[in-house]
Amino acid sequence: MANNITYKEFSDENNYTALSAEVMSIRARGNSPMACIRTYGCQQNVADSEKIKGMLFDMGFGFTENAEDADFILFNTCAVREHAEDRVFGNVGALKNIKRKHPSVLIGLCGCMMEQQHVTDRLYKSFPFVGLVFGTHSLHKFPELFYNAITAGKRVYETGVDDKTVYEGIPIKRDGTFKGWLPIMYGCNNFCTYCIVPYTRGRERSRKFDDVVNEAKQMINAGYKDITLLGQNVNSYGKNFEEKVTFAQLLSEIDKIEGDYWIRFMTSHPKDCSKELIDVIAGSKHISSHLHLPFQSGNDRVLKAMNRSYNREKYLDIINYAKEKIPDLSLTSDIIVGFPGETYEEFLDTVTLVKEVEFTSLFTFIYSPREGTPAAKFDDPYSAAEKSKWFQELLKVQEEIAAKRCASMVGKTVKILVEGKTDKDGILTGRTSGNIIVDFPGEENIIGEFAYVKITKARNWILNGELV
Ligand code: 5AD
Ligand code: SF4
Repeated sequence: MANNITYKEFSDENNYTALSAEVMSIRARGNSPMACIRTYGCQQNVADSEKIKGMLFDMGFGFTENAEDADFILFNTCAVREHAEDRVFGNVGALKNIKRKHPSVLIGLCGCMMEQQHVTDRLYKSFPFVGLVFGTHSLHKFPELFYNAITAGKRVYETGVDDKTVYEGIPIKRDGTFKGWLPIMYGCNNFCTYCIVPYTRGRERSRKFDDVVNEAKQMINAGYKDITLLGQNVNSYGKNFEEKVTFAQLLSEIDKIEGDYWIRFMTSHPKDCSKELIDVIAGSKHISSHLHLPFQSGNDRVLKAMNRSYNREKYLDIINYAKEKIPDLSLTSDIIVGFPGETYEEFLDTVTLVKEVEFTSLFTFIYSPREGTPAAKFDDPYSAAEKSKWFQELLKVQEEIAAKRCASMVGKTVKILVEGKTDKDGILTGRTSGNIIVDFPGEENIIGEFAYVKITKARNWILNGELV
């Protein structure tokens, strides 16, 4: 079905899971071994951690948030910005004391940072108490790597790139029982000049159509009510197949599954976001009226330097089409402020675009140079202080827009998925199909269910309501 991608079933033919379980039952400090898995970065990482937890669960592990209590501590790392990397190094450093106190503890690191040579070199040199390191392409080997790390008496590093294989059937232990992630593809082919992801996650490869639809069915049958399809660029789903299928076709097939549920997806790339996709959302029963469409910059010169392959006009064209077709559409986006060489005037094009579109919310980042990406070598004449001032200016503009958008919902009755308790007694919290948070008084037994609430008040970007 697909070009040069091999599809393999996960298998543990040498029984590393059972062997590890045996070793861990002796090493465990409590009745059963405990793992503390900390996940940094995007939802793709969260989904990867759920697979690692699935494999650990099969080894008899329980899970704890507290690293002090764990027999295995694993950080699933993110390389997308420097800040995330610094946090990981800082937090790993802090584990040294735990290892000193409990020498049998295994400390591991995985994820995007581990696909960068300069990172693994630094770890190897300066963090000898880290016993297991593996990259994003080695998830399916986890039982073997883990077994080697607990028995071999030396550090295990596994960071090779394999972006030609998709593994199905890796056990999953999902964090949520009614909200879940469903990866539909891995990797990215876009090479935006600022972004490290194509280097850490390799080339784009889609899971097979039927595998995705079947997993969606299983999740819906298991009671999942809010499922997010994941990929770095979901709009190019199926492009590696010989028989072309589009993301819109995938969505429309999933939408046919019986049940009361919402489907979301992220992330979309404006260059591949088709009108066909918007039409499918508009005509669907279950696809939420939420589109996360990162535009990064509102200025055409900057977009070109970022290698984004669309311009402001094309972006607005698809946004306006979506607004016209999808009632109550909620739009969100990612933005980078201070891309190398971006002038204040160019930044203001981002501000005017934000004002024009009126997003529900924004994920706004100050540009962070990533070693190995083209932009890291571009001239970057503006100071961090200047960029930070622009960033604050943008946040202020967005705050006003979000407040206005929320205020316009007062008096309306909306369907929400009840997600949990707030820290206020008797007050629950949920989200609309457009992903807006609504707090309201209610009984805990409706957590995980859909409910209808009438919006009574707006507080910046959070709504208050009453059950109807
Ligand atoms: N610096 C700042 N932000 C970045 N992003 C990706 N790479 C960088 C970088 N080097 C942002 C983009 C992307 C989001 C996931 O992270 O906005 O959409
Ligand atoms: Fe990075 Fe661009 Fe790929 Fe998104 S589309 S993961 S920003 S290279």
